[in-house]
Amino acid sequence: MNQKRIVLDTDPGIDDSVAILLALASPEVSLEGLSVVHGNSSTAQGTINALSVLELAKANHISVYKGCDLPLVQPSLLAPETHGHTGLGYAKLSAPLSQPKGQKGSDFLIERIMSSPGEITLVAIGPLTNIALAIRQEPRIVENVKEVFIMGGAIRHEGNTTPLAEFNTFVDPHAAHIVFHSGMPITLTPLDVTYQCVFLKDDLNRLLKIDSPITKFIADATRFYMEFHDEYQKIDGCVINDPLTMALTFMPELCDYQDLYVDVDLSGGLSMGKTFADFYRMTKKPANIKVALGVRPRDFMELFLERMVKLAKFIS
Ligand code: RIB
Ligand code: CA
Repeated sequence: MNQKRIVLDTDPGIDDSVAILLALASPEVSLEGLSVVHGNSSTAQGTINALSVLELAKANHISVYKGCDLPLVQPSLLAPETHGHTGLGYAKLSAPLSQPKGQKGSDFLIERIMSSPGEITLVAIGPLTNIALAIRQEPRIVENVKEVFIMGGAIRHEGNTTPLAEFNTFVDPHAAHIVFHSGMPITLTPLDVTYQCVFLKDDLNRLLKIDSPITKFIADATRFYMEFHDEYQKIDGCVINDPLTMALTFMPELCDYQDLYVDVDLSGGLSMGKTFADFYRMTKKPANIKVALGVRPRDFMELFLERMVKLAKFIS
């Protein structure tokens, strides 16, 4: 099997952490390194979380790189109400034994993409600050990256951070603008599809049939996330945005796509950070992004649960 060589830019984060576990549980994926960005928690805390989650899954051979701690222009916005003050909900992981590498996150992304032209799949599941910095530092990554999968945006769907905007594009809309217009081969996984992928208590109970540090972590982390979704959005369960994005790297058939011209609002008003697609080609601008707009939610959830069961049985 030809494995996908993935570098992951992430703001762990509860659903980020579960996306990391999905990558580790999937033989189609070779996870080659993580760059951490501000978002669900600070970059410092997110770096600790990334190292701890990798150690939980006995994958501490994978390197972690600390990235940018602030948006390019906007003030910092973190999400403790959604992910808890540690960023991992109620989960309590031991402090990591390993350290992040000394190289900055954006430098790691550049070095890895440029050293293997056409071979690296970049997955971005947090605010796009590190990716934007990497593009500005080394524009050639645009034509040397194999493909880019981004979790972010809300096309026809309401926002989850403002009435219109999704968290990752709202936190750093200027970075999203740079990345969306870079020319990179982007597949976007917006709230339009992720909000159909709700991890239910019944799904969690299926995992809890296995006694494993992995299932305990998922239970403790997602219990906080489910309480947030219930309190703020009256959703029974929790939306696992980032694992769907990771799954599309090796199982794209889970979604249906349209090639569209997509942009992000920088005007600073009520729709700041709102993403929109030009469905009727009114701007006459060429499509810049392949957008996932349809999904088979239960097919995704069965894949996710099957991989988590396999990982939980392996990590006792
Ligand atoms: O809006 C959801 C996205 O923002 C997810 O990636 C979540 O982890 C946060 O980063
Ligand atoms: Ca994320």
